[in-house]
Amino acid sequence: MTSTLKIVDLHAKVEDKEVLRGIDLEVKQGEVHAIMGPNGSGKTSLAYVLLGHPKYVVTKGDILIDGQSIVNLKTDRRAKLGLFLGFQYPEEIPGLRFGSFLRTLAVEMRGDKTPLSQFYSNVKENLKKLDLDEAFLSRSLNEGFSGGEKKRAEIVQLLTAKPKFAVLDETDSGLDVDALKIVSSAINEVRGSDVGIILITHYQRILKYVKADYVHVLIDGRIVKSGDASLADEVEKTGYEALRPVQATT
Ligand SMILES: Nc1ncnc2c1ncn2[C@@H]1O[C@H](COP(=O)(O)OP(=O)(O)OP(=O)(O)O)[C@@H](O)[C@H]1O
Ligand SMILES: [Mg+2]
Repeated sequence: MTSTLKIVDLHAKVEDKEVLRGIDLEVKQGEVHAIMGPNGSGKTSLAYVLLGHPKYVVTKGDILIDGQSIVNLKTDRRAKLGLFLGFQYPEEIPGLRFGSFLRTLAVEMRGDKTPLSQFYSNVKENLKKLDLDEAFLSRSLNEGFSGGEKKRAEIVQLLTAKPKFAVLDETDSGLDVDALKIVSSAINEVRGSDVGIILITHYQRILKYVKADYVHVLIDGRIVKSGDASLADEVEKTGYEALRPVQATT
């Protein structure tokens, strides 16, 4: 059965700032939805609210997977239901080996029972796809990784987690052209194995390699325009300001 992630009239605040002001979005497994928007428009907030970051409070609306509301569930429960987040700024976790972390991710998210040797040989295949050396497995998660290595390590986590839905927050930022192609091809592979993807990005350059089914423009916590992949080209030409709704003056 194809699962659906549904976001309904979602409002959320962080501290006292209203960061999401009525988001509606429906993502099916295997679809790619690109979310574009200027700095501070609420893209990362949306990612955090979807995953249940404790600082973000949902004030209205709902998030559902196959009709079941997840809005009151803690992050680990959401992950077990198949939600994955690739961070805009991956945290360095000294003392947590990347290799052990990947195993925990697979076991906790989807009850992986693959024998260790088989598991790590799959992981090594995935590292190779992302052009990361095996030596990364024995390093602390993200510690001392370059910006681009952190982003590629997020995608190794995605390949390991095999979620139903992935929210990728600016996975393309900080990648050189070659890395962008490598990461894009891994994202395409994941999409091909029926993962629904919310691809948050500023620029359309990644969308040359990952074909979005839908593009949504987020401004001031609202989706102001949705369309097909051609909307990304329009944004590139006109900029975001042209899409900003006219403010009421009264
Ligand atoms: N803890 C906080 N307290 C107050 N305001 C916050 C807090 N966290 C985020 N914000 C504000 O919420 C707004 C949305 O931030 P968000 O990180 O979602 O933007 P973004 O679209 O991801 O931007 P960028 O493209 O720069 O990554 C910003 O104005 C930000 O300053
Ligand atoms: Mg952001």
